[in-house]
Amino acid sequence: MRAPRTALASSQLAARYAALADEIDAVLAGEGDRIARMATVAAMLAAEFERYFWTGFYVVDSSGDELVIGPYQGTLGCLRIKFGRGVCGVAALSRETQIVPDVTTFPGHIACDSRSRSEIVVPVRNGAGRLIAVLDVDSTEADAFTEADARGLEDIVRRIFGRQDTGQIHKNDNQSA
Ligand code: SME
Repeated sequence: MRAPRTALASSQLAARYAALADEIDAVLAGEGDRIARMATVAAMLAAEFERYFWTGFYVVDSSGDELVIGPYQGTLGCLRIKFGRGVCGVAALSRETQIVPDVTTFPGHIACDSRSRSEIVVPVRNGAGRLIAVLDVDSTEADAFTEADARGLEDIVRRIFGRQDTGQIHKNDNQSA
């Protein structure tokens, strides 16, 4: 018997995310710099999925209650987002993945680009379990993201930042001039 179309699509999507996670892991082998890791994840995700219109990271800044723009692919992103504000801020505050099928119905949604119609935001934790960023993906299509996207992206950020990320902002941060 053939699997229902949605189940089949989900398993194909899961396989695509798993293969991409392996590729990203291979590209980043031995690279501990967090910016290099985020930039590579954003670039490889954006290249893999056509429906990704904006793909990137908002990083927890030193205040601990605000996000600041990190590496991304796409049109100009807003620079700062307070915890609790917009989809990214809600994901940061709740530490839970947010799937928003229609951004116009999300209270406080921040429209960096009015072409975005749906969005998914995944919290990013380091090896110690501390929130370091959120991964935000927008699409110009409504209802573009499913639980399969959530699981795929959560797995990628766990593999790429939950194990090997050293937390270094820049290799020379701790060296004197
Ligand atoms: N829409 C996001 C803001 C970031 S941009 O989409 C790049 C939000 O509501 O948090």
